[in-house]
Amino acid sequence: MSQKPTQLPAWQALTEHQKAIENVHMRDMFREDPKRFNRYNVSAAGISLDYSKNRINDDTLTKLMALAKEAHLPEAIEAMFSGAVINKTENRPALHIALRNRSNREIRVSGENVTDTVNATLAKMKAFTAKVHSGEFAGYTGKKLRTIVNIGIGGSFLGPKVVSDALKPYWNEGYDLKYIANIDGTDFAETVKGLDVETTLFIVASKSFGTLETLKNAQAAREWFLQQGGTPEQVKNHFVAVSTNIPAATEFGIEEENMFPMWDWVGGRYSLWSAIGLAQMIVLGTETFEALLQGAHDMDEHFRTAPLTENLPVLLGMLGVWYQNFFGAESHAVLSYDEYLQDLPNHLQQVDMESNGKRVTREGEVVDWQTGSVIWGGTGTNGQHAYHQLIHQGTRLIPADYIMPLQSHNPVADHHAWLFANYLGQQQAMLDGKNEAEVLEELLASGMAEDQAKWLAPHKVIPGNRPCNSITFTKGTPEVIGALIAMYEHKIYVQGVIWDVNSFDQWGVQLGKLLGDAIYSAIESGDTATLDSSTAAQIAAFRDANC
Ligand code: F6P
Repeated sequence: MSQKPTQLPAWQALTEHQKAIENVHMRDMFREDPKRFNRYNVSAAGISLDYSKNRINDDTLTKLMALAKEAHLPEAIEAMFSGAVINKTENRPALHIALRNRSNREIRVSGENVTDTVNATLAKMKAFTAKVHSGEFAGYTGKKLRTIVNIGIGGSFLGPKVVSDALKPYWNEGYDLKYIANIDGTDFAETVKGLDVETTLFIVASKSFGTLETLKNAQAAREWFLQQGGTPEQVKNHFVAVSTNIPAATEFGIEEENMFPMWDWVGGRYSLWSAIGLAQMIVLGTETFEALLQGAHDMDEHFRTAPLTENLPVLLGMLGVWYQNFFGAESHAVLSYDEYLQDLPNHLQQVDMESNGKRVTREGEVVDWQTGSVIWGGTGTNGQHAYHQLIHQGTRLIPADYIMPLQSHNPVADHHAWLFANYLGQQQAMLDGKNEAEVLEELLASGMAEDQAKWLAPHKVIPGNRPCNSITFTKGTPEVIGALIAMYEHKIYVQGVIWDVNSFDQWGVQLGKLLGDAIYSAIESGDTATLDSSTAAQIAAFRDANC
């Protein structure tokens, strides 16, 4: 039995330390130390993190870093980068870093240098992209393929979508990219509506080629293609696949030369850097895609080599542990002041919650400390007119990451300065808030009667002292977007190591899939005798409505 993180000396020290810092207001921390920002900010790979608006002092950081060392984080980082089997329940390494290993460091898995394997696949992707662009690989009537439809779900959808959305300013002219993920027929119907069959390329992106939603949508796309005038022989001009499962893709009708490999040492939610990114490469161009990989690699190198105290993913991860395990925070908000990054919270939900939403340790013992974090968020300033009220005045402590490009891809009048003003204003409100004396003073100064002012004041008090990170970059370039996503991937690993969970398996999603199969049979047969009364009644209602 490994030592529980809660039994580590640093954990105990942090528990004591939290009691001392709990009642200190960050306002006072800033007042007492005018240079606080200088001490608590760090930059790497084009990303700047200002973490001065956290409920920490030097002592907190020393203790958090001691916890990281006692939990063997440096060794865990080394283990990941060297290709060790860190995903023990599936007996594999977790080598998304090998997918963007731009300095070609040798990484061996079972004797094979995976860097060579990755580079060979990248070369195949680039060659295919060039053929699509030139028209050498064309639709069945010889027209160039212009609309790429990515069929995939989970990691074969969310990460790729963040990339293509974030890099919209870099899209090749004349191309369009769409996604079909959901088993809800509406997703399929609305996406194919109005598509020109002659110029549409479907990319079936599925590591397993066994995911229900993806297979059903791929079959529906094949049907649609045939109904629109294509023939079974022409399917090969319009369908390619990315998968580890070559036999299943072949059975679907995809030519082996139009298949792009994946490897079991890449987790689905960490796969956007692999051939799962083929659709993005076609639309963005190979240079942009490689720049994305370069940015991620720069962040990898930073994570691998920077001291813990200057290490962006380590700092973010340990601050998250601080709030979740010592302040009882239940969720973490990702607030992107960049419209192009509107899907980042969705992607991080999968990466974070599927990775660290675990109830047993790496050795299978049930944990008695909180793991995982509820990730949610959206874009600023939209969120300010929705959930920020709860962030500022609700009863829960919700640490937040504020993300902001200093330059806009779309300068419109003075919009960007206003966006920035709001980004900063929200953080100031989280930091300072407004106490009762200040509220009263304001109300009285406005001419309100004292009784009324006293009555109204508590409603207007904003406690402040709510922590946040400011994450900025000059502009959302491919390098920066790569670095940003990689930074979060590594943050999640840091936390998984501290919580002693396997961040790279996802057994929890399997049960729902199996139960879905059994229920589907009951819907077809109408035999609900073995089911609970609620499930049975709903199946009966569904059958009444549809059968
Ligand atoms: O949701 C579970 C999951 O296994 C994810 O981890 C994965 O990203 C997704 O399904 C899709 O899997 P695949 O790429 O194999 O279709």
